[in-house]
Amino acid sequence: MEWTKRHLLGLEELTAEEITMILDTADTFKEVSTRSIKKVPALRGKTVVNLFFEPSTRTSSSFGLAARRLSADVISAGGKMSSSVKGETLVDTAKNIEAMGVDIIILRHSAPGSALHLSKNISCSVVNAGDGPHEHPTQALLDIYTMREVLGRIEGLKVGIVGDITHSRVARSNIWALKKLGAEVYVSGPATLVPKGIEAMGARVCNNFDEIVEHCDVINMLRIQFERQEDAYLPSVREYSRLFGLNAERMKRAKRDVLVMHPGPMNRGVEISGSVADGENSVILQQVTNGLAIRMAVLYLVSGGTDK
Ligand code: CP
Repeated sequence: MEWTKRHLLGLEELTAEEITMILDTADTFKEVSTRSIKKVPALRGKTVVNLFFEPSTRTSSSFGLAARRLSADVISAGGKMSSSVKGETLVDTAKNIEAMGVDIIILRHSAPGSALHLSKNISCSVVNAGDGPHEHPTQALLDIYTMREVLGRIEGLKVGIVGDITHSRVARSNIWALKKLGAEVYVSGPATLVPKGIEAMGARVCNNFDEIVEHCDVINMLRIQFERQEDAYLPSVREYSRLFGLNAERMKRAKRDVLVMHPGPMNRGVEISGSVADGENSVILQQVTNGLAIRMAVLYLVSGGTDK
């Protein structure tokens, strides 16, 4: 099949075939990072801008490295040192960056829909690196890539997504893509942190984590996003950890070969214990490694590459 999209804004609008094409393209790029010279010329002459208005460790460095491994030129903009703090609009900032001959803007922003908005107002490609609680497509793609790499399939897998679903763009992107690829998705968390209507996306809600833990092939633990919470969603962090934390005790009831995932950054001792995060079922760092291949694939495809 031919890749036809110039932007990656979310997984809601992709077909199962398009998602699979990104995963398959990532397969071919994964090998590049194992070479002594970790570079291919696929994006030579192209310029990529990391435009981040929210903090990031994994996503910003992963996109930056992915672009460099494809031989693109990369700069970073956004944040507190950009002219947005002087009142410049997002579109004006992006148009000024684009005027310097940029090919791809990677945007992280707190406003849901900001990547779509930008894509309608500028000519270069836009890749969504997280727009508020809406979507984080490359995170879900690397999560699903890791599931497929370890378990060999997505169809029929039972995937539990646990924690702060309301504020999670990772949960939304995972649900869209996992359902399209034939997985069963359970979401679990306190009723205050599971949004009404999430079933309409195809996920099953179970507020009691203990009722799903033994059935899951994959458990993806989410961070409590204290920075997005304006109201008190939890009576206490200790109670949250007791009811929804993945710890050694709960792991005894899980499948022996369950995959433990976390998009990071982790609150160790809150949603996941240190021993589980570092334990033999954890693929948390494998997710990060795979993120590089996924982001190389996405940058390559949106800039006109083919699956060859
Ligand atoms: N998973 C993720 O998006 O991490 P960062 O916020 O560090 O980019």
